[in-house]
Amino acid sequence: MSSASTLSVRVARKAVEAQDIVTLELVAVDGGALPAFSAGSHVDVQLPGGISRQYSLCNDPKETHRYLIGVLRDPASRGGSQAVHDQVQEGQLLQISAPKNHFGLAHDAKRSLLLAGGIGVTPILCMAERLAITGAAFEMHYCTRSPERTAFRGRIGASSFADKVRFHFDDGAPAQKLDLAALLAQPDAGLHLYVCGPKGFMDAVLKTAREKGWVEGQLHYEFFGAEVARSDSDASFEIKLASSGRIVMVPKDKTVTQALAEAGVEILMSCEQGVCGTCLTRVLEGVPDHKDSYLTPEEQAANDQFLPCCSRAKTPRLVLDL
Ligand code: FES
Repeated sequence: MSSASTLSVRVARKAVEAQDIVTLELVAVDGGALPAFSAGSHVDVQLPGGISRQYSLCNDPKETHRYLIGVLRDPASRGGSQAVHDQVQEGQLLQISAPKNHFGLAHDAKRSLLLAGGIGVTPILCMAERLAITGAAFEMHYCTRSPERTAFRGRIGASSFADKVRFHFDDGAPAQKLDLAALLAQPDAGLHLYVCGPKGFMDAVLKTAREKGWVEGQLHYEFFGAEVARSDSDASFEIKLASSGRIVMVPKDKTVTQALAEAGVEILMSCEQGVCGTCLTRVLEGVPDHKDSYLTPEEQAANDQFLPCCSRAKTPRLVLDL
């Protein structure tokens, strides 16, 4: 059974796509059409062990008979990718959310630059499919450690847009490495940049783009699987709930959402890693210590909202709009 926001799907196919990368093809249990999605969409997948993880859809958005997700085995992960690789089998039923899109294509783009790092190719590939279908001007750069670790190489090579894609391998010749400074040198009006990949890759791309004068409206990015930086300086602090005046202590080894949940205050969450924005909460007083990868630098600097699944406080107290 599916509720409005939860879909029951069956793993119709599990395939090794590249070294340490598998794809899952998900179909509706009743064999019917799945809700439509747009390029850049993701679904939340409930995995064995009570883990929920978000995966971008990487098939052609025209398709309604399946969702395709690609998952990298990440030894540093907290179990989501391991569960997909080791436990999820063909034929298994899974609960997923309907597709959501926080990483959509800008409709007014004159040209698009798509940058993928590693498994970050999943939403980027979907965007490339879409842009190719609409005849839009774009180019895609796909950086991976080596050809063996490059998912969808065959699919890209056989696609109608193969000539718009450049591969860059860490273990390849210097001449084929991505020269970010050159690529991002001209932030022309109407040019939009989309980037998805590991945090280091995205930080490098976004830092270079901002240095070259790209404005935030031209930059589109989605972090995933981000490490939430814990530091020795994490201290305890107080949360005050504006509605009731109640005070909740957040000890240094707990997140705000954990401390609030123990006090009976539930905040809706999904990624628990500061990536998805689901737990976004307004801050009325105090200064948050932002640790998320979701808000833009400007939004973080405004200090009027934060992601309590990972962010903390720089002041002894935060007053939240709860
Ligand atoms: S739950 Fe995803 S950002 Fe907090």
